[in-house]
Amino acid sequence: MKHLTSLFDLTTVEVREILNLAKELKDAWSHGHREPLCRGLVLTQIFEKPSLRTRVSFEAAMMQLGGSAIFMSAREAGLEGREHHGDVARVVGGYSDVIVLRTFAQSLIETFVESSGKPVINGLSDDFHPCQALTDVLTIEEHFGDSEGRTLAYIGDGNNVAKSLLLVCAHLGMRFTIAAPEGFQLDEEFLKQVKHRFPNAEFTQFTSPQEAVSSADVIYTDVWASMGQEEEKEQRAAIFQNYQVNSDLLAEANADAVFMHCLPARRGLEVSEEIMDNPRSIVFPQAENRMHLAKGLFAWMLR
Ligand code: CP
Ligand code: NVA
Repeated sequence: MKHLTSLFDLTTVEVREILNLAKELKDAWSHGHREPLCRGLVLTQIFEKPSLRTRVSFEAAMMQLGGSAIFMSAREAGLEGREHHGDVARVVGGYSDVIVLRTFAQSLIETFVESSGKPVINGLSDDFHPCQALTDVLTIEEHFGDSEGRTLAYIGDGNNVAKSLLLVCAHLGMRFTIAAPEGFQLDEEFLKQVKHRFPNAEFTQFTSPQEAVSSADVIYTDVWASMGQEEEKEQRAAIFQNYQVNSDLLAEANADAVFMHCLPARRGLEVSEEIMDNPRSIVFPQAENRMHLAKGLFAWMLR
């Protein structure tokens, strides 16, 4: 049985298989074909945090492939103290063919892997956001025609999205740079695991955004305060004030560099208003691609 808890779960061949399936299904979809690869299958999504893209893209993907989708908040599912988490997982597994979870703790995803008996997908945890990073390389390859040898510069907090981007870059031979203030860089334990798994991964940590973006093909950012860190919002806004992606920073990157953001964006904080709506911003095709990637992932996991 296949799961996607983080990009450590996949081999590089599997990453490529998922991307190829996503591309094929997107191409078919754009020609009006919706092959019912998941006819009769049921997706259950249980989320501890809000979501627009993840929830709707997985739901739309399953429906376009001929299946159906159930959504519950963690409270509705009884995960907030009503029932033992392993028991919830086992019951949900009995009704579902695939489960997408959005959690605080990565360990809740592991509990579902152990107890549900069904394929489990991480739809974002405090540690990782693998479906986002897979979508992002799909989008990069669509835009540039390739990904290997390209440089992705991530500006901001060394969070779940940053970690997943480093992993996908390591899989695909992309260079990854990050600019984050001291104390907000990628954690050492994670970097140790990356170096062990991908000895040839090319990545550099900077504190200066200008240094990180020099010779970048993609400039990427994410919110400074992630879901669950709302109380640190103001403090982080002060710490990160020199880390905004704006036209001055974009001017330091390659002439054909593009801007990406997983969204939701806080316009005027991590990204300036003019960059979000700039012709070099590909954030909306990137958001749409969440659905195409979800279809590729279902096709890879379930057929
Ligand atoms: N990018 C992303 O995961 O968006 P949502 O939080 O809206 O799902
Ligand atoms: N780092 C952000 C990503 C949102 C898609 C968060 O975890 O809230």
